[in-house]
Amino acid sequence: MITGSYPNLRLRRNRKFDWTRRLIEENTLSPNDFILPIFLVDGKNKREKIPSMPEVYRYSIDRVTQIVDKAIRNKIPMIALFPKTKNSKKNMIGSEALNENNLVCRAIIEIKKRYNNQIGIMCDVALDPYTSHGHDGLIKSNNILNDETIEILIKQSLLQARVGCDVIAPSDMMDGRIKKIRRALDKEGFNNINILSYAAKYASSFYGPFRDAVGSKNNLRSDKKTYQMDFRNSSEALREISLDIKEGADMVMVKPAMPYLDIIKSIKNEFRIPVFAYQVSGEYSLLSNAINKKIVDKTVILESLIAFKRAGANAIVSYFADRLDKIL
Ligand code: PBG
Repeated sequence: MITGSYPNLRLRRNRKFDWTRRLIEENTLSPNDFILPIFLVDGKNKREKIPSMPEVYRYSIDRVTQIVDKAIRNKIPMIALFPKTKNSKKNMIGSEALNENNLVCRAIIEIKKRYNNQIGIMCDVALDPYTSHGHDGLIKSNNILNDETIEILIKQSLLQARVGCDVIAPSDMMDGRIKKIRRALDKEGFNNINILSYAAKYASSFYGPFRDAVGSKNNLRSDKKTYQMDFRNSSEALREISLDIKEGADMVMVKPAMPYLDIIKSIKNEFRIPVFAYQVSGEYSLLSNAINKKIVDKTVILESLIAFKRAGANAIVSYFADRLDKIL
């Protein structure tokens, strides 16, 4: 492929000025490449700090317009909603997930009423924000039940679809849930609702700050290794993805992102399906803390985000997505 050599060939010639570098650039980012996660909290007039996530806040529904307005102004295509449920509303079976007046449902209704289809809304399907034990599914004698959990996830999906959610995102890692959720959505006439499967979701310590943000950290007594993937594996991720595609996923997510660029790339090569990278809370906080302590320059943000594009991601879920005007 290389037809010459030094001194005829000097690759530095293409790098000599800003304009030559711009001319040969292979990957770029625009606001279209982002999904902005938003944390919700009960109450009025709240914009709470999250101690483990610098510059990320939890919003009460009456103030969520503040951040959604900005996302729309910045041309971000979609937001992802995550509720911090009061401990008093959590129980063993996460029944608050099926309450049509829960935080997420009320937020969807408000946002849809105000903005209609100017921005997409994606919601997780999983029980962890609602269970007293912090797991994504039902528990029986220390086992996370698969099929019984799916029955609840179906109801959760239908509820979110009914109140106006655009993209259903199962993040629970139960086997077979995409198929059953797709079927249930179609049966109720929701054949236009997308499913974004968190198909390659690793059992990761990088989720720490998120669990703090949604208030599930202290509840979780064990790990999620019987349903989320082992970080030693990559072929297994391809199996997960291929099953979810067969079952009806429109898009798939790899999570976390930065330590799993190889997975993003091989999924893209193998399946040609929209792949999203989730730059998770631990990645966010590590970068933010290092920037705030001046250990690294803030350009590490752009550098890490471009890496996801280079690997083949179509879009990126990032807690930096509310500051793209400063980052891109
Ligand atoms: C819930 C869920 C988690 C994240 C997104 N959805 C945590 C978990 O599975 O424990 C993590 C996101 C992040 O760390 O930013 N199933």
